[in-house]
Amino acid sequence: MILVTGGAGYIGSHAVYELLQAGHQVLVLDNLCNSSRQSLARIEQLVGRRVEFVRADVRNRAMLSSLFASFPVTAVLHFAGLKAVGESVAEPLRYYETNVSGSIALCQAMAEAGIFRLVFSSSATVYGEASQMPISEDCPTGQPTNPYGQSKLMIENVLRGLAASDPRWSIGLLRYFNPIGAHESGLIGEDPTGVPNNLVPYMLQVAVGRRAALNIYGDDYPTPDGTGVRDYIHVVDLARGHLKALERLEQQRGVAVWNLGTGRGYSVLEMVRTFEAVIGRPLPHVICPRRPGDIAQCWSDPGKAWRELDWRAERDLTAMLADAWRWQSRNPHGYAQPAKTLAATG
Ligand code: NAD
Ligand code: UFG
Repeated sequence: MILVTGGAGYIGSHAVYELLQAGHQVLVLDNLCNSSRQSLARIEQLVGRRVEFVRADVRNRAMLSSLFASFPVTAVLHFAGLKAVGESVAEPLRYYETNVSGSIALCQAMAEAGIFRLVFSSSATVYGEASQMPISEDCPTGQPTNPYGQSKLMIENVLRGLAASDPRWSIGLLRYFNPIGAHESGLIGEDPTGVPNNLVPYMLQVAVGRRAALNIYGDDYPTPDGTGVRDYIHVVDLARGHLKALERLEQQRGVAVWNLGTGRGYSVLEMVRTFEAVIGRPLPHVICPRRPGDIAQCWSDPGKAWRELDWRAERDLTAMLADAWRWQSRNPHGYAQPAKTLAATG
């Protein structure tokens, strides 16, 4: 059985779906601070199987110990954490406590229970402002400019120290680039609370009429059209990367780092144009000043994951945005309302 912390969230829910489809038993632990139990109900509907769910906080060590005593867990996918960059600047202690202390509590309980296989959700943010593109895993990590990014780097270091201290550990650090999109059913997807921080959720809310126009943060970067360039990856491709990492970690010990990206960068304006083609109408947008803390460009060299995990991203940008749009247009208010398709499929 695989424990998925944060399994009700955006990326975790897609990983839960893929694990179930691959025949795994899955136990989800989530305190639902940034997600809905609905995501798991929809997965159960899609897959026709039950997902074990425990609503609890990953920082609760005693609870984790009793969980490991009750369920035959053999490996953990650790998604649970806080991820809003701006919020992390305002509330650094909450971010360090949830992300770093939560990871430590999890590892302590795992070791006590004799479970040593862990896949951790890291981020390309650990590279900081990289001097070379594409970014490969041997590029030095930088100085993340916010507590969220620092917490990811800290956890990576904690996990390296842990693996160095005990050869039984098999740990995968997956550095995600920019996950977007949704499962092709349109039943599960990203459901941000409040004003979205990220580009695609914001574009989607403009398209459904929840927001007036997209603010494009800067058109004076040293990029081909002046807007920021990122490596957007379909969340289903990303989720499948986790299954490949889990398999690989069965055969190797220590810590391994893998970038999960497509190897291709797109600018904000390219994103807008592709999205306009998907929805068949213009997307209102305005050019604004740069957003503090943003980097000009960031894209991956995903070759190591291809060589070692036999994994690569398969879905192109149009598929990513079409799937994102299917999710958003069928669920204009996310999980707060039943999906329009539920009656038809259920
Ligand atoms: P998300 O917020 O949708 O999912 C995180 C889940 O963790 C949520 O369901 C939340 O309720 C749960 N959670 C938070 N604190 C918890 C706690 N103390 N105990 C138990 N559960 C808790 O975010 P996501 O986009 O699915 O991200 C998943 C992971 O991937 C996070 O660790 C995030 O930092 C990392 N990541 C995300 C991105 C991205 O752009 N989405 C990029 C790089 C890395
Ligand atoms: N952007 C806009 N308007 C918006 C939102 C974003 O123009 O409303 C631009 C940004 O300036 C950037 C690009 O769109 O050029 C992508 O921005 P996102 O916020 O979607 O993604 P980031 O690359 O800035 O941040 C993401 C995650 C962070 C993580 C970082 C590095 O959200 O958690 O990648 O991995 F730290």
